[in-house]
Amino acid sequence: MFGNKQEANKGKAWKKLAKHFRDMKDVEMRGLFRKDAQRAERYNINLDAMMLDYSKNRITDKTLSCLLDLAKESKLAEKIEAMFKGDKINMTEKRAVLHIALRNRENTPIYVDGKNVMPEVNAVLAKMRKFTEDVRLGKFVGYTGKKLTNIVNIGIGGSDLGPKMATEALRKYWAKDIQCYFISNIDGTACSEVLNKIDPECTLFVICSKTFTTIETLTNAKTCRKWLVDALGEHAVSKHFVAVSTNANEVAKFGIDTENMFEFWDFVGGRYSMWSAIGLSIALAVGMDNFEKMLDGAHEMDMHFKYTEHSKNIPVILALLSVWYNDFYNFHSNAVIPYDQYLQYVPAYLQQLVMESNGKFVSNDGEYIKYPTSAVVFGGAGTDVQHSFFQLMHQGTQIIPCDIIVPAISHNEVGEHHEILLANALAQGEALMKGKTVKEAYDEMRRAGKPKEDAKRLKKYKSFEGNRPTNTIVFKKIDPYALGMLIAMYEHKTFVEGVIWNIDSFDQMGVELGKQMALSILPELQSNASGISHDSSTINLIKTIKRLRK
Ligand code: F6P
Repeated sequence: MFGNKQEANKGKAWKKLAKHFRDMKDVEMRGLFRKDAQRAERYNINLDAMMLDYSKNRITDKTLSCLLDLAKESKLAEKIEAMFKGDKINMTEKRAVLHIALRNRENTPIYVDGKNVMPEVNAVLAKMRKFTEDVRLGKFVGYTGKKLTNIVNIGIGGSDLGPKMATEALRKYWAKDIQCYFISNIDGTACSEVLNKIDPECTLFVICSKTFTTIETLTNAKTCRKWLVDALGEHAVSKHFVAVSTNANEVAKFGIDTENMFEFWDFVGGRYSMWSAIGLSIALAVGMDNFEKMLDGAHEMDMHFKYTEHSKNIPVILALLSVWYNDFYNFHSNAVIPYDQYLQYVPAYLQQLVMESNGKFVSNDGEYIKYPTSAVVFGGAGTDVQHSFFQLMHQGTQIIPCDIIVPAISHNEVGEHHEILLANALAQGEALMKGKTVKEAYDEMRRAGKPKEDAKRLKKYKSFEGNRPTNTIVFKKIDPYALGMLIAMYEHKTFVEGVIWNIDSFDQMGVELGKQMALSILPELQSNASGISHDSSTINLIKTIKRLRK
């Protein structure tokens, strides 16, 4: 479907880039650095206490100017304005896209269908503040009067990954007596493992679901409700369950008092919702002041994104580089490596953000797309991943552009640990870029005293092609403000990619087919019923599983 037809339905700037690519495809970054002593200074952007170094990319000024033309041709400036204005840019669902309203710290009015959304946003933030303070101070207690110190977030996708990632990222800010748990998977193990660890009298369940119809979340919530009722009785429910949703009817049907519900709105996409009451678990763990600092950081990135010219705009540059690699070089993966243990869930979070947003094959004009859209995102915390998939990053036959995220200061400055970690982070970027030629590998072995024959035999194996791109994103420290900046940066990068690819980054219709089929297979597994006709493989799998479960 995609192949070499990338240029088919693209405009002038795209074609110019395709032509420029032919000049660039064999250009080596080593040479670019050698020729230009100012390269690192020119290709970096500072914003407050963060810095993006994008000099280790296969780009020249000409590349950047062509990419910026592409942004212009894609009407990026107009599209950014449309998002911030509350236009219904989620075209398929006819919805505004206003995660930026959730952290609109200047409180300027933002209208959807003629109504300013800010009073409601602020009211929910105030309700979150009151509730989280009451829980943390022991004013809102469990049914038997005990302090609620176990917070169990039940949700999946955007109702889990954001809170889980941010709560872990900010672990150093947790109240001393609070523990957070996350139940997402329908696998009964997820529920059982958490319930086995906690005391019902001290447990608050936060059920997060935008739709309140998601089978995993409702099944987990029902199991936890039964567990609580078995322990403390039906009357305890209102003291131990709160809900976060856009769907008050379903919340009430589930048996949660809507007084205990925190609202959000259909202009907030699930994967963009951690800034809303979906972040209640984060706020319970770190306190509302810290939660609002995270909103402040995101707002700073929003303002940078909205007002900074594209050539100095962090999310825009990151997105353009991503398009450059994905659509011209045909590098279809992107690794994200945070060198910070607390950021270990960032790659998982970004997988949903990026791939659910931009894994699309129909354009905003209703046409099948003939160029690659979202890259496959993966990653993990450094240095751990250096000892797993980095072999392929350095010597594999695929090239994987990579984001390296580094805090200059650790929350745990223990001995030399952080300096060793930092040295590794920087070394990976340099090694991926420079590589090591066959001759260099040979000479190095000879200098180390290896016999000629061995050095000859091993020189290719020990060489590195290099020329593998990285962005390095440096923060002073990962505090709530920095985390807000980091995540908002990736949200906007994802949006810009979607604009260039001319897709709706805010629906997720691709998740529906599997859900539908699961609903038809379920009764067949549970009884002898047979539903829609399946292929012979699925029929055989159903039979085998039923036999094994007997
Ligand atoms: O199945 C995908 C999805 O709809 C995600 O987009 C969403 O984040 C997740 O499921 C959970 O949905 P909800 O918050 O409505 O339970």
